[in-house]
Amino acid sequence: MILAELKKLEQEAIAQIAQAADDAALERLRVQYLGRKGALTGILRSLRELPPEMRPQAGQEGNRVKQTLEQALSQAQESLQAAARDRQRRVGLDVTLPGRRPPLGRMHPITRITREICDIFIRLGFEVVEGPEVETDYYNFEALNIPKDHPARDMQDTFYISENVVLRTHTSPMQIRVMEQQPPPVRVIAPGKTYRRDSDLTHTPMFHQVEALLVDKHVTFADLKGVLTVFVHEIFDPSVGLRFRPSYFPFTEPSAEVDIACVICGGVGCRVCKETGWLEVIGAGMVHPEVFRFVGYDPEVYSGFAFGLGIERIAMLKYGIDDLRLFFENDLRFLRQF
Ligand code: PHE
Repeated sequence: MILAELKKLEQEAIAQIAQAADDAALERLRVQYLGRKGALTGILRSLRELPPEMRPQAGQEGNRVKQTLEQALSQAQESLQAAARDRQRRVGLDVTLPGRRPPLGRMHPITRITREICDIFIRLGFEVVEGPEVETDYYNFEALNIPKDHPARDMQDTFYISENVVLRTHTSPMQIRVMEQQPPPVRVIAPGKTYRRDSDLTHTPMFHQVEALLVDKHVTFADLKGVLTVFVHEIFDPSVGLRFRPSYFPFTEPSAEVDIACVICGGVGCRVCKETGWLEVIGAGMVHPEVFRFVGYDPEVYSGFAFGLGIERIAMLKYGIDDLRLFFENDLRFLRQF
């Protein structure tokens, strides 16, 4: 009898709790069933009047129902709260608002200029090749006609990894690597990082060069002048003048240093060109017969020219940047300008 009453009360209460729409409704149900004057409380109190042999079972069942209802109430409260949070989140999301833009990176000025330079030479029929920055003594010096006791080694303050391994001091080792790999004709450019033990306003320990090498029958200094003139006119302006000065490199003969009319002052003379009106931008020359012998090309049949240019130098002149170190500090205020 009393057990049936408890069962009925439990079912009723659970159903009502499931229907409760808010905290207030739940609280009313808690009072209605579990409060001091609540329905379950009343039944539990009346257990006293039962015959002693029925009390334990009825008492146990009464406590179980009480626990079940307490649990149901707190679970219902939790799920009401979760539903409320969910609603709030949905209201807080306005899908018609513009999205958040992830910050966009952009090309580093050195990368940009490198590509521009490569594009010019690609149009002239050159192929782009790349090689190792950690280079052997053989490729960086020896095969370029710079033997161990050659005074030209003093021209380059080198980072040595070990006695025979260096960080390449120029991109010229690529001349040797390319020629070793293929017979003439050759028409390549090799952009990349180079390293020298140098650090001041106009020198950084790492910088970039582009090497060019063209080998074929009947290549002359006039071809070198022609290609460099086209290049300078393309990268700067067709009005920019060039001048070739005799110079010396162990791997070219004859050798030249190529100046361009100062793009800052137009050749009148300024701080950048040290009042000379000229800027030195390229080292060049005709490939030395000795270099051909190192790679097994016949210098009686083939001739060629090579040149190397500093990318930072070109970038500084093109963008009017006066401090080389800006390229490598990764200051966004600087980089965002390009
Ligand atoms: N490798 C030379 C340098 O770093 C430049 C150069 C390249 C000169 C090719 C002549 C021919 O200064």
